[in-house]
Amino acid sequence: METASPPGQSNDSVEDRTAAQRYMIQVNGVLHDVKNEDPLMSLAEYLRSVLHLCGTKTMCHEGGCGCCVVVLEYDNPTKPEKRIIKSMNSCLFPIGSLLSLKNHQVVTIEALGSMKKGLHPIQQRLADYNGSQCGFCSPGFVMQMFGLLKNKPSPSFQDVEDNFDGNVCRCTGYRSILDAMKSFVKSTDTKLRGSFIDIEDLMSCTKIRRPCTRSSLGEIASSTSPAEGTTSMLFSKDGLKWYQPTELTQLYLLMQEHSSETVKLVHGDTAKGVYKKDGPYQVLIDVKGIPDLYKVTMGPNGLKVFSNVTLSSLIGYLKQYSDQSLSYNVIARHLLKVANGPVRNAGGWAGNLMMKWKHHEFVSDVFVAFEVAGAKLTVGDIAELNTYTPAQFLDVNMNGKVLLCVEIPKLAESERMNSYKIMPRMQNAHTYVSAGFRVQLKALDKKQLVESISMVYTGINETFIHAVATEKYLQGKDITANATLQGALTTLDKEIIPDEDNPLLASAEYRKSLALGLFYKFFLSLLSEGVVSPCNRSATCSLERPVSTGKQTFSSKPEEYPLTKPMPKLSAYKQTSGEAEFINDLLPLPNELFAMFVLSTEGSATISNIDSTAAMSVPGAAAVLKASDIPGCNTFMPPPYEAEEILSSGPVLYAGQPIALCLADSQHHALEMVEVVKVTYQDQQPPIVTLDEAIEKKSFYPSPGKGLLVGHPEDAISESPCKIEGEVRAGEQYHFHMETQICRCMPTEDGLDVQAASQWLDLAQQAIACAIGIPATDINISAKRLGGAYGGKATRASLVACGAAVAATVLCRPVRCIMDLSTNMKAVGKRHSYIFKYKVGFNEDGKLNGIIITYYADNGCSPNDNEVGESLVFSDNVYKCQNWKLIPVALKTNRAAHTWCRAPGSVPNIFVIETILEHVAKFLNLDPIAVKQKNLYVQGDITPLGFNLPYCSIWDLYSTQLEKVDVAGRLQAIKKFNADNRWKKKGLAVVPLKYGLYWSESYYLCTVSIFASDGSVMISQGGIESGQGLDTKVAQVCAYALGIPVNSISIKPTTTISSPNSGPTGGSMTSELNCLGVKNCCEILKKRMDPVKDTLPPGTPWKDLVAACFKAKVNLTAQYWVWPDAQPKRAPQYNSYGVTVAEADLDVLTGENQISQVDILFDCGESMNPDIDIGQVEGAFVMGMGYWLLEKMIYDPSTGEVLNPGTWDYKPPFSKSIPINFNIELLKNAPNPMGVLRSKASGEPPQCMSCVTLFAVKHAIEAARQDVGKDTYFPLSGPATVDVIQASCLVDYKHFSI
Ligand SMILES: Cc1cc2nc3c(=O)[nH]c(=O)nc-3n(C[C@H](O)[C@H](O)[C@H](O)COP(=O)(O)OP(=O)(O)OC[C@H]3O[C@@H](n4cnc5c(N)ncnc54)[C@H](O)[C@@H]3O)c2cc1C
Ligand code: FES
Ligand code: FES
Repeated sequence: METASPPGQSNDSVEDRTAAQRYMIQVNGVLHDVKNEDPLMSLAEYLRSVLHLCGTKTMCHEGGCGCCVVVLEYDNPTKPEKRIIKSMNSCLFPIGSLLSLKNHQVVTIEALGSMKKGLHPIQQRLADYNGSQCGFCSPGFVMQMFGLLKNKPSPSFQDVEDNFDGNVCRCTGYRSILDAMKSFVKSTDTKLRGSFIDIEDLMSCTKIRRPCTRSSLGEIASSTSPAEGTTSMLFSKDGLKWYQPTELTQLYLLMQEHSSETVKLVHGDTAKGVYKKDGPYQVLIDVKGIPDLYKVTMGPNGLKVFSNVTLSSLIGYLKQYSDQSLSYNVIARHLLKVANGPVRNAGGWAGNLMMKWKHHEFVSDVFVAFEVAGAKLTVGDIAELNTYTPAQFLDVNMNGKVLLCVEIPKLAESERMNSYKIMPRMQNAHTYVSAGFRVQLKALDKKQLVESISMVYTGINETFIHAVATEKYLQGKDITANATLQGALTTLDKEIIPDEDNPLLASAEYRKSLALGLFYKFFLSLLSEGVVSPCNRSATCSLERPVSTGKQTFSSKPEEYPLTKPMPKLSAYKQTSGEAEFINDLLPLPNELFAMFVLSTEGSATISNIDSTAAMSVPGAAAVLKASDIPGCNTFMPPPYEAEEILSSGPVLYAGQPIALCLADSQHHALEMVEVVKVTYQDQQPPIVTLDEAIEKKSFYPSPGKGLLVGHPEDAISESPCKIEGEVRAGEQYHFHMETQICRCMPTEDGLDVQAASQWLDLAQQAIACAIGIPATDINISAKRLGGAYGGKATRASLVACGAAVAATVLCRPVRCIMDLSTNMKAVGKRHSYIFKYKVGFNEDGKLNGIIITYYADNGCSPNDNEVGESLVFSDNVYKCQNWKLIPVALKTNRAAHTWCRAPGSVPNIFVIETILEHVAKFLNLDPIAVKQKNLYVQGDITPLGFNLPYCSIWDLYSTQLEKVDVAGRLQAIKKFNADNRWKKKGLAVVPLKYGLYWSESYYLCTVSIFASDGSVMISQGGIESGQGLDTKVAQVCAYALGIPVNSISIKPTTTISSPNSGPTGGSMTSELNCLGVKNCCEILKKRMDPVKDTLPPGTPWKDLVAACFKAKVNLTAQYWVWPDAQPKRAPQYNSYGVTVAEADLDVLTGENQISQVDILFDCGESMNPDIDIGQVEGAFVMGMGYWLLEKMIYDPSTGEVLNPGTWDYKPPFSKSIPINFNIELLKNAPNPMGVLRSKASGEPPQCMSCVTLFAVKHAIEAARQDVGKDTYFPLSGPATVDVIQASCLVDYKHFSI
């Protein structure tokens, strides 16, 4: 261990100070002096660490998740009478930048409203609509909406829907959030709850206590203006200078003066969200205080826009002047696909182009749009101005120069222009390939001759810009001739040579095919109706996504309220107001340190040395801990689990494995330390990175179970008239909890006080005890709430818990151990990935005879969280077959040990059996919906594991749902659509569900205490609130059981003091089992209180009854230990059933797709709270959609290191990824005789039906293959990303015709 001497006064001093008033920033109406702060500190860090305004959250620190959104207001530099108001990501914006914005004001969630002062209508609505589950994302959504309403008090539904392209919510599935926000649309035709609110109410901030208008900021009008005069130096220390010029000449002079140093111009400063390692810089020049750089003029040559104009403003101007040139709308549409709203609000077009200038491989959308439009860029320095095309600009020596302005010409009458961006997700995603085309045509007789054409691409390779050869070929050609198209395609095919060696890019074949397909789209769009065949016309348009909608249907029993009452989560209001505290929101304790892991970059090696010298010289560095510093056992998985080292003691099992722990006075400094720790390795071996390698090398863990053999599957298959064999795969899924792994430990006289973001406190307690070598009783561990978990914080949370505990013990200081997103994605395992191999025998009518499936599951470097043997119970889903052989194989690879992820095992297992049924149907050329129906279980059937199905309702549900959502009619319509359209297809699929719930592995201690003084009730339980609504359901049950109002009940944080030995929160059953425990506690209490009650007059108020009981010496605390016995033959406690129908639209040429409709019928028993259960269904389903259609982990093939550990390359669903028409029905009148208060679980089962979206897309692909005569079975593995889908469509440019 290396440690630093005790912290003293920092010797960083600001050398140059001018005009103290320049260092004031205003947040929520309060002025703050920032002269002692680092101007580079992000606004988010300042808000959270300095002002302790922790309602603003942080997660990705790269502009990709939206939880840090705040609203910024300042005087418009060119029209001071007007205010600019915009939402932006506080994680990217440096506080120094605020000083160049006149009369600025930062508005955070705290200013809008609070539980005490009253909630802002947006906060209130979001909670009322159940749009907040774990609540971590909620402040970001609220602020993003606030920003919209400030700018557009009467938004349309479309405005609202477009507004959230920068906000991630992993819990809700977005529908409820969008509904809450749409309730602010002034519309007579709304079915939404709530009504339009007066704009005055919407605009006021309770904290500022007056509307956020300029008048309220008059007091700082002069204090924050940028420096005027000759010196524009704001700050200088440690060789870094920060300038704030107010005139263009000042800027030029500064550029000249510092031309030999590394200079960065600071505008939005968003580029660092993409290129984090650019720099270091010696000189920073904030250009935002220069009014000349905000100029915009519309002249005869076109629109001239200077470089301080943000992307959002540029889009606004392009729309404003769209009547002047048809191209302006095209560019505006293209720029709307850049990044997301908050990034576009801060970032400028100039910064974007400079990114392209610096990193030629950068897939700049601005570059494509400007280049194709024929824009001219002006670059200036003190001596001269020069004008270039964007392509020429890339080779200009920009040293000492400023990108001054862009002039975007008008399109000539005879010109046509369009652009396309194909990306991995519909919103907030970088491009795979962007293309822009501009053509000038001349009509001659019936011909359309090309006078000139510009074809611009990005995403092909670092240098490819214009398709020069094709442009040349087309010169003078007649576009109405099919031969012209064919000639152009052949030429283009030759000149497009995509680079291949970057695993983060989509495949070279796909990008080439896109380049050809996008040209084809444009080409056809130039031709008039009569020229293009009606079938091919479908190539020209993009998929239209109308405003989404959804219906939620359920029943409840008012006579039982608050049980079965649809009501928002109790803590939802604290969450939407930003007052709900997560661990990283806790104020630092005196002397607290921040810890971050150093990760291995090798996949299979031995550490020979860890050099922490450079790390210890980082300001604020406190210590670097190694494995030898761990006082107890070096494992975060205590016995009986197999040891998994907290810090590697030498052997490295995967790239991403923690090998040292850096401690500093801030998270920022700890991260700086991590970056400079030098690790050397020896004995490097080629790691096993893929499942195929593991299978080939027989790298298996000991058998995770015998598997299952029922009947004689081999014989049944060989004797069947029909048989198939196949293979299909399912990938990994990062949990993407918005609160990353975190734990804080504080040494006390008692041992350690621990706040852990863990789904399993008991395990974390045992792990810490083992790592420190102290008894479990010395560890007081608690969790109030988790910012999402989904299984990722069950066993894996013990890693950060042990890290924090070891450091706190060794250094005798409080320690907060946190993983940033990148560390979390690299160090922690994900949902297991699979290869499934199967053989099936069946009859001509599709009836199953025998099934053999081998499940190869990647467990990574440890078998601890194995799921493959356990999950065979899900293998049959709803299908009856007499002969089964199921073989589980757990693969050992050099990847992080994989762990449980929402519906572990069941999601992939149900996918493979659904794949089999689809395969059978295709083989027989039968309708898969009918084949599935033929094989459904009926009441009383026996499953392969020998369980009886006494309440099986799947047959009825299946036929009812097919009829209700008119599957037959829609299939007809789809068939016609597919026949009429060559390049757009539709598909529809149905997936039924049987999901067994097992109670016997779960155990919780519940305590209910009544306070004698006022009758209020306190509950502590063993489950942990992580967004699933556990606390609310438990309170509802308690209120129902005791006959008291819900608001007299308080749910306390889960702790090992009040609920020791409790099991993990997971597997969907935690809510119901804690409800059971609390119900039983209430019954015990009632039994004790009844004799006293009998002595009191009927109707005695609860408070008086409690007081009388206390007087009568009744014990007002009851405990119940819930640990249900296994059902006979280890059968599930009960099964949940459901049926989901999904319909998909597909763009064959690009692979882009959207789910146009989903109808879920789910059996939730008698839902304890339909609002919460619907939220669970939607959230689970959308998380599953992400798994099947979007989310892909990418590994370095040589080391196994995760290559996409962030929001730029890993794509969970966004609000426009969800079904356009999303309908959920909870089965009515369906009491569950085997459940708690007749309910059923909802957290995981619906996710198993999400593969229906993949199958719907697959049917659309089949229609495309039919057009090329290849409509035979093909496997579609998950994730079926756009590139995979397009490749499956067998697109070949040789099939393109007019
Ligand atoms: C989450 C996220 C998603 C994104 N998605 C996309 C996307 O889909 N497509 C896409 O094309 N881009 C995307 N981007 C990039 C984004 O468009 C840029 O970050 C932004 O436009 C940069 O502008 P800025 O004002 O913040 O530049 P800054 O970060 O302030 O500056 C960037 C660079 O430009 C230089 N610079 C700035 N202004 C000038 C000037 N006037 N003269 C000379 N040099 C100057 C600076 O010195 C610096 O080196 C994304 C960015 C983020 C963070
Ligand atoms: S933390 Fe700022 S966008 Fe993610
Ligand atoms: S509620 Fe949105 S991430 Fe949890």
